Amino acid sequence: MSSFSRRNFLQTSALAGAGTLLAPALQAKNLEMILDKGAIGKSKWDLDTPALIVDLDKMERNIKKVHTRLQGTGVGVRPHVKTHKSPAIAKMQVAAGALGVCAAKLGEAEVMLENGIKNVLLTTVNVSAPKIIKAMALRKKHSGFIQAVDNAQNIQDLQDAAKAAGIKAEVTLDIDVIGRTGVAPGEQALALAQMIDKMPNLKFCGILAYDGGVQHVVGFKARQERALKTFEPVVKTYDMMKAAGLNMEIFSGGGTGTYDIMSVVPGFTDVQVGSYLFMDRQYVEIGGEKNETVFDDFDVSLTVIATVINNRVPGRLTTDSGAKAFTLNKPTPLVIGEPGFNYNAGSDEFGAITFEKANKTYKVGDKLEIIAPHCDPIVNLYDIIYGIRNDKVESIIPVLARGKSQ
Ligand SMILES: Cc1ncc(COP(=O)(O)O)c(C=O)c1O
Repeated sequence: MSSFSRRNFLQTSALAGAGTLLAPALQAKNLEMILDKGAIGKSKWDLDTPALIVDLDKMERNIKKVHTRLQGTGVGVRPHVKTHKSPAIAKMQVAAGALGVCAAKLGEAEVMLENGIKNVLLTTVNVSAPKIIKAMALRKKHSGFIQAVDNAQNIQDLQDAAKAAGIKAEVTLDIDVIGRTGVAPGEQALALAQMIDKMPNLKFCGILAYDGGVQHVVGFKARQERALKTFEPVVKTYDMMKAAGLNMEIFSGGGTGTYDIMSVVPGFTDVQVGSYLFMDRQYVEIGGEKNETVFDDFDVSLTVIATVINNRVPGRLTTDSGAKAFTLNKPTPLVIGEPGFNYNAGSDEFGAITFEKANKTYKVGDKLEIIAPHCDPIVNLYDIIYGIRNDKVESIIPVLARGKSQ
């Protein structure tokens, strides 16, 4: 070995050694920083910002409310973890009576299953070979994992992967109601359900159909009419499958906007509510059954604390919370107590507030509490959510599936 290559080799092994030695210490340090345990007991107004916080009383009320409202209807709750991405919150939902949870991505499902959530319905079809193989490996390890499918090739691929894994895997068929994913309702769906039913390594467990287009229809009556009308072909499909003798133990769908509408659908088993937990500006503005202008069935529990970092220009404030704190979703963030504030989160790190009238004078360093435009994607921007009770930090909730978009 030449001296040069020998030196290279030594450098490489020294680096490798340092890597393996340092990694656990670094990881522990990072984790300590991320978990911010020192914040426990602090006032929410003393948190470093931007800080994502959840009012625990309100969130717990929301969790209970959906069950209370659906009690006696025969419809269960299978909350969607795409909203919170946190096994700790999923456990609270299960403890409150959820049948299990839904996940949007395989990575999310894995985080839930590996952290004590027993029943996970993956509502998204996996089409690539690595994902299909991983999904079946997950099912081999966790018997409560259920996979959605929507096309014949995918059914065959799943059958092959389930056979190779030596398992019989539960699957549901995704029925298309919004032109996103899923098979067309009717004969095509029935044919696929029968195909699944004949596969030796797959177990057909029923259908799911999420109507995302209807969730934010403004006005309860209009939402109700449209939800039930667009669902008619799905109901017919359910009836056809039932008449064909298929196992229809799952008929899942609906969301926060239709959670109390879907219970009249015959055979319907569970609502996949997500946003009900936190709420956001998009949902507040759709109106509810009792309150036509504000959808107040659930409390807004999730907010962001931001800091004013510049007040130089009259009628304008700059905050430390822009697109990386709120996303670019519409409508704009809503500052609590300041209905006249226009919040532009278009800049990466800065929020630009313009106003004609403010309820107080804002100094640099003042804090604001702000409602998010849309709760799901904002949670994906934060490592932790501060759990707040009576304005004080009671717990740190790690967003363990943050970034698990695969
Ligand atoms: C398949 C599926 N189910 C349920 C939900 C939850 O919806 P919501 O947050 O409106 O309750 C979503 C949200 O996008 C979804 O995509």
